[in-house]
Amino acid sequence: MNSMKRILTIVGARPQIIKSAAISRAISSQFTGQLEEIILHTGQHYDHNMSAVFFNEMGIPEPHVNLAVGSGNHGAQTAEMIVGIEKAILEFTPDAVLVYGDTNSTVAGALASTKLHIPVIHVEAGLRSFDKLMPEEINRISTDHMSTLLFTPTISGLENLKREGFSWSHEQKASVNNPKVFHCGDIMYDNSLYFESLSKADLLIDLGIDNSEFILVTVHRDTNTDDAERLNGIVEAIHQIQHASGSVIVLPLHPRTRKMMDQQLTDHMKELLYQNNHIKLIDPVGFLDMIALESHASMVITDSGGVQKEAYFFKKPCLILRETTEWIEIVENGSALLVGSETEKIVNGYHQLISTSHHFPSLYGDGKAAEFICQTVLDEL
Ligand code: UD1
Ligand code: UDP
Repeated sequence: MNSMKRILTIVGARPQIIKSAAISRAISSQFTGQLEEIILHTGQHYDHNMSAVFFNEMGIPEPHVNLAVGSGNHGAQTAEMIVGIEKAILEFTPDAVLVYGDTNSTVAGALASTKLHIPVIHVEAGLRSFDKLMPEEINRISTDHMSTLLFTPTISGLENLKREGFSWSHEQKASVNNPKVFHCGDIMYDNSLYFESLSKADLLIDLGIDNSEFILVTVHRDTNTDDAERLNGIVEAIHQIQHASGSVIVLPLHPRTRKMMDQQLTDHMKELLYQNNHIKLIDPVGFLDMIALESHASMVITDSGGVQKEAYFFKKPCLILRETTEWIEIVENGSALLVGSETEKIVNGYHQLISTSHHFPSLYGDGKAAEFICQTVLDEL
């Protein structure tokens, strides 16, 4: 019989708030009395539509602690998180700390807990883009190597960990010196299946695209937003694809992108983007609206890790505005193409995707990853 375990969950950036809904839902529906969850929000994301909207609509419990760290340089932002998370660990004395993905909030949670000898649970472990210039790659690698329980969403994640020396032996008790790796599928697949039935077409009606073809675009990766040449190249490509397809383009703008577009785009690009009625620039949307967009779009163009994969869940071809991806399966499958930021390459990619038929075999588990993670935590800690 397992005794009650207390887990401190660290969230902070939009994608991990969304991911956390799956585990919170599993705990409250299947593991009450066995797992207690304390939620700490670092405050890395803080605008209503980058944070609160997800707690409200996805039924995530209110955080017990909000560090309100806000934006800043990587060092200062991460350091402030570590200080706050350390305090919370000392106050709440959790049995383990749960971190998601690859943001600064993730690595801050892992560092604070591992130094206090509290086991780290890493959900979305093992992913690699093999580009250490990405802040996320540094965060992923270091978090994995501080973790006690590692849950991989994909087989390639499992193989990456094996290459880095993680052992497959599950004989000894899990510890930071004997970490255990489990392949469980993707908790975002759990979420997409669960929330698809709750999602409505209201936003599509408001945008006037409920009966027309449209392409969904998101851009927020620092390498794209903060580099004028790349950002202008992407906008030119969006303009050309809009003309070639005749489709509406819907672009929910991450606050970073909105800010950088104003600073980095040439006057000509601003005109192409802002004066075209078929390009709809909107504020970031909630997850239910995002699912409505992803599931109705004819194609997705994105540099987001989460959105490229959700495109696959909803059987949409996808152009990835990056040179590498940690979700390599969808590229190997052919439904997604790595096209970087050069206009010509992106537009060629568009023509290639529309002239090919695509298949979307199951790659991301059975939609029960969260349940598996909760049960494994109970069994192993
Ligand atoms: C972060 C993650 C990235 C993830 C992304 C998800 C790191 C290093 N990066 O990038 O991996 O893909 O979140 O969206 O952790 N801003 C606002 N309001 C907000 C949040 C941000 O205006 O609520 C603006 C600020 O100008 C801020 C900028 O966006 O400086 C960047 O925010 P930050 O959290 O540092 O990085 P992201 O680009 O969001
Ligand atoms: N998302 C959302 N609203 C938006 C844009 C994205 O709900 O306007 C969701 C998206 O469906 C996915 C997650 O946010 O689940 C991805 O986050 P983001 O692109 O910010 O980060 P990444 O996945 O690249 O780390």
